[in-house]
Amino acid sequence: MNFFQNIQSLLLIIILLFSFVNCQNIPKPRYQQTSSLIGNRLYFFGGDLSTTDYKNYSAMNLTNEVWYLDLSSSFNTATPRWNKDVGMPIGYALGASCVSPIDNSGFLVGGRMFIPNTATNNLESSPAYIFNSNISLWTTPSIIGFNSSFKLRNQNQPVIDNSGKIYTFGGNNDTGFNNSYVDYNDMSIFDTTSMTWSTLAISTNSPLSSHFFYTATLLPTGIIVYIGGYVDRLGIHFYGAVSMNHILTFNTKNYSWSTMVASGGATIDSRIGHSAVLTQNGDIIIYGGVMLYNYTTPVTPYIAKLDTNSWMWSIPNLSQINSPQLCFHSAALYGNYMIIAFGLNPSLTSSSSFVLSNNLYILDIKNYTWVTSFNPNQSTSNQKPPLIKSPTTSSDDHSNNDLFIEIGIAAGIVLLGVFFVVGFLLYKRKNQYPKFIPTPGTTDRI
Ligand SMILES: *[C@@H]1O[C@H](CO)[C@@H](O)[C@H](O)[C@H]1NC(C)=O
Ligand SMILES: *[C@@H]1O[C@H](CO)[C@@H](O)[C@H](O)[C@H]1NC(C)=O
Ligand SMILES: *[C@@H]1O[C@H](CO)[C@@H](O)[C@H](O)[C@H]1NC(C)=O
Ligand SMILES: *[C@@H]1O[C@H](CO)[C@@H](O)[C@H](O)[C@H]1NC(C)=O
Ligand SMILES: *[C@@H]1O[C@H](CO)[C@@H](O)[C@H](O)[C@H]1NC(C)=O
Ligand SMILES: *[C@@H]1O[C@H](CO)[C@@H](O)[C@H](O)[C@H]1NC(C)=O
Ligand SMILES: *[C@@H]1O[C@H](CO)[C@@H](O)[C@H](O)[C@H]1NC(C)=O
Ligand SMILES: *[C@@H]1O[C@H](CO)[C@@H](O)[C@H](O)[C@H]1NC(C)=O
Ligand SMILES: *[C@@H]1O[C@H](CO)[C@@H](O)[C@H](O)[C@H]1NC(C)=O
Ligand SMILES: *[C@@H]1O[C@H](CO)[C@@H](O)[C@H](O)[C@H]1NC(C)=O
Ligand SMILES: *[C@@H]1O[C@H](CO)[C@@H](O)[C@H](O)[C@H]1NC(C)=O
Repeated sequence: MNFFQNIQSLLLIIILLFSFVNCQNIPKPRYQQTSSLIGNRLYFFGGDLSTTDYKNYSAMNLTNEVWYLDLSSSFNTATPRWNKDVGMPIGYALGASCVSPIDNSGFLVGGRMFIPNTATNNLESSPAYIFNSNISLWTTPSIIGFNSSFKLRNQNQPVIDNSGKIYTFGGNNDTGFNNSYVDYNDMSIFDTTSMTWSTLAISTNSPLSSHFFYTATLLPTGIIVYIGGYVDRLGIHFYGAVSMNHILTFNTKNYSWSTMVASGGATIDSRIGHSAVLTQNGDIIIYGGVMLYNYTTPVTPYIAKLDTNSWMWSIPNLSQINSPQLCFHSAALYGNYMIIAFGLNPSLTSSSSFVLSNNLYILDIKNYTWVTSFNPNQSTSNQKPPLIKSPTTSSDDHSNNDLFIEIGIAAGIVLLGVFFVVGFLLYKRKNQYPKFIPTPGTTDRI
């Protein structure tokens, strides 16, 4: 009997110990990470752990951590089973991960790549890192024809097509520190099958503005849809939010740009730091985000749906009050479940401290209800879940006058002291700040 009691206590201790260890196995809150579905695993790469770096770049703390959730088994959103994978060679933020449809390799192209857990910038031994999740191995490719102007490029969101070509548009080489940087409006293509790089020539209908913090979504038709974010329209670090009614698109079939006018539908606030996922019906669901220059006020509506056939916005019936307030979070669609994780909570954030999240939320997009338990059998309605990933920045075009409606306000805020990435930049640069305020109607041909 004693023997069995002992065995029982031993087992109990082991179980307790195990659950303790398990409890420790929870990622710290973070934002600006990137995420991708690889097979049945939802991976999260990097992110910034710092809650104070808005006023002190030296406090930036980019993690190299890689976490994943196994979506082949059930879990509760309050206690998801987090798995930690091998760390990246770099601390990482403000980029995007692309998963090759050919062999499921994960590619980090662009983004801020730092020495992990330090504020040491300008680390870039390679412009790209490749993750083989089968064997938890990171490698660096040698890229043929790499364009060195892409070095340190961040605030962009590359997407990959079915043939393994990564399309990356805009961004800049600002690292958050007090260095000079350049804003770009170029489109580069990285062919992951041949590891070759090419930067497209600027064509007559290329966007004239540099774009940042947009979301990029590739439609099955081969069109990339750029939503939201902000632009440097004049090329002098003079920024404005992108109107949600003007949706920049790039056709990967013939490399042509155009702007879709989303009119007649719901009114959607401009935003940065939102997420976008593509549904089976060809709708893009955006979630969260904040206004340019204002990280304490969530945008409205909180969730919106763009029909990419009619180019009309609509607002799903989801109460903002009961919904998590986030920006710079991740979102992925797995069957009918939109899985949201991490990010910054604008409602709780103040000028003295950022409030970051490590929570997980699941929205059933069939009826727009939050669910607390994940069951792989219920997430899908017999289809294979599409694989979409998430967060970052926007779009625009060269002919929309309302792009800059917010610029006057923005310039005003700069003088008061701005926070966050964009704020930093503006603050740093206030001396070379615009000698004039463009108004709607100002030509963008500079
Ligand atoms: C900025 O952050 C760094 C690292 O946390 C710290 O060493 C430094 O004292 C901070 N500077 C200011 C002005 O707060
Ligand atoms: C990972 O494993 C799958 C299944 O065996 C295989 O198809 C794929 O090519 C592998 N990917 C890599 C990058 O090795
Ligand atoms: C970054 O965060 C990690 C984990 O919390 C911590 O161990 C490390 O000291 C931090 N680094 C800096 C520079 O604050
Ligand atoms: C950035 O540079 C400007 C001018 O060179 C300087 O006044 C300012 O203090 C610097 N800011 C930081 C955070 O280092
Ligand atoms: C960005 O690129 C420009 C042009 O190559 C360069 O002068 C500048 O130093 C770079 N900035 C950073 C932060 O690396
Ligand atoms: C490299 O990128 C820059 C910036 O977009 C562009 O001006 C230049 O033409 C590109 N170089 C090549 C060889 O494509
Ligand atoms: C590219 O293809 C689209 C769709 O087929 C077409 O509407 C557009 O005119 C083409 N653009 C160019 C520049 O060929
Ligand atoms: C952010 O926007 C809210 C609502 O418009 C406003 O009350 C607040 O003062 C703004 N904060 C900043 C820093 O501009
Ligand atoms: C929206 O949701 C609320 C609460 O879930 C419900 O009472 C209301 O009827 C819904 N409205 C529509 C148009 O579905
Ligand atoms: C929403 O749909 C799911 C099935 O997709 C169902 O289990 C759930 O009960 C529904 N919720 C509401 C509030 O109707
Ligand atoms: C999902 O369905 C399969 C087959 O119907 C079953 O074997 C499995 O246990 C189910 N998984 C969960 C988590 O319910």
